[in-house]
Amino acid sequence: MTTLTASYRAHIETLQSRTREALQREGLDGLVIHAGQSKRLFLDDNDYPFKVNPHFKAWVPVVDNPHCWLVVNGTDKPKLIFYRPVDFWHKVPPEPDDFWTAEFDIVMLKQADAVEKHLPYDKQKYAYVGEYIEVASALGFHIVNPDRALNYLHYQRAYKTDYEMLCMRKANKLAVQGHRAAREAFMAGESEFAIKQAYNSAAGQGDNDLPYTSIIALNEHASILHYMHCDNAAPDTPRSFLIDAGASFHGYAADITRTYSHSDPLFAELIAHVDKVTVTLGNALKPGVAYTDIHILAHDGIAQILHDVGLVNLKPQEIVEKQITSTFFPHGIGHFLGLQVHDVGGLVADDRGTPKPAPEEHPFLRCTRVVEARQVFTIEPGLYFIDTLLADLKASDNSKYINWDIVERYRPFGGIRIEDNIIVHRDRNENMTRDLGLN
Ligand code: GLY
Ligand code: MN
Ligand code: MN
Repeated sequence: MTTLTASYRAHIETLQSRTREALQREGLDGLVIHAGQSKRLFLDDNDYPFKVNPHFKAWVPVVDNPHCWLVVNGTDKPKLIFYRPVDFWHKVPPEPDDFWTAEFDIVMLKQADAVEKHLPYDKQKYAYVGEYIEVASALGFHIVNPDRALNYLHYQRAYKTDYEMLCMRKANKLAVQGHRAAREAFMAGESEFAIKQAYNSAAGQGDNDLPYTSIIALNEHASILHYMHCDNAAPDTPRSFLIDAGASFHGYAADITRTYSHSDPLFAELIAHVDKVTVTLGNALKPGVAYTDIHILAHDGIAQILHDVGLVNLKPQEIVEKQITSTFFPHGIGHFLGLQVHDVGGLVADDRGTPKPAPEEHPFLRCTRVVEARQVFTIEPGLYFIDTLLADLKASDNSKYINWDIVERYRPFGGIRIEDNIIVHRDRNENMTRDLGLN
């Protein structure tokens, strides 16, 4: 196993070579990457939580320091302009001295608006990469977020370096600690709020450290796909618990979902069915397979379950053909995972960024690429009892195939999703989530 420092050095070499290619395609001399700024709330003196530019954290594992900048050209040692104000109101970060610092020429920036003297004097062939277009223009940049360069970098970001894999294993480890604690809290009958607290404590991360807002859903709430609320009161009867929660490590995300039955064997059996689909689809990820085909396989798996547990009186193939699976499994099978929880580059055909959108019948699919080694995916099939979609189904011609009494039996449990994080290697897959023993 390579060390963090050695793998990080190789990671920077990879980024340097990708940058050279991106610059050459765009006819540029370099990129100036802005970490970002704090954003103030309207009519207030508080800021929104700071979220760093992913292009910045790709290079530097510093995610909490606005007003930092990077100047890179793919050849010279990258220059890091590190913001370190004199400020007795806030915590000022120490001068960087870590496993990553040797890879940069580092200059300190005391005042955010004094950055200009550290930037290239002639900006004609330098592009600004970041969110603050007015800042770029005030500094004299004419080229902002150039498409060809960014398309290339986004496409390449799908191929994770050893360092990135290492970070994602660590992120999975933190998330799994949280998931275990959350399950215990659920079994003890705690509220969604208390479960969330248990998760954050065990993962060692606050809400702003997590890569996305956790979904902590009890009972019927598990049918709300993006349930981001948190009830303070524990339910009278805890029946089911769907938790979709991740963790971050050096800016890389984990994105894990589990579903538990409190004490109902029938719902536990349904969970076991979905779990099997997750494992089967994870094994189907292989270099050369179209990710869209994994999504289509998921519909076959869900159809088989709907048939086996008696929810639908049709053969599995007919259930798919009549699009009944879409009522119970309305989202995509997964996505690239990395610096962003839904990592970029999933919906393109090539490194020029030619769009390859999701097929019309599967509009929520986030990745249409062919699976290759070094890519990292989530696999997250689900089976839900969603009021609005069930109402549509009831009003359709397909209603006659549905055992509505069985639907009613499951409805109080909300739904199920089981989500794993998987690295595809050339000759095998690495299920980072299951390797940590989270079943
Ligand atoms: N947690 C967001 C997702 O599963 O895609
Ligand atoms: Mn998730
Ligand atoms: Mn996901």
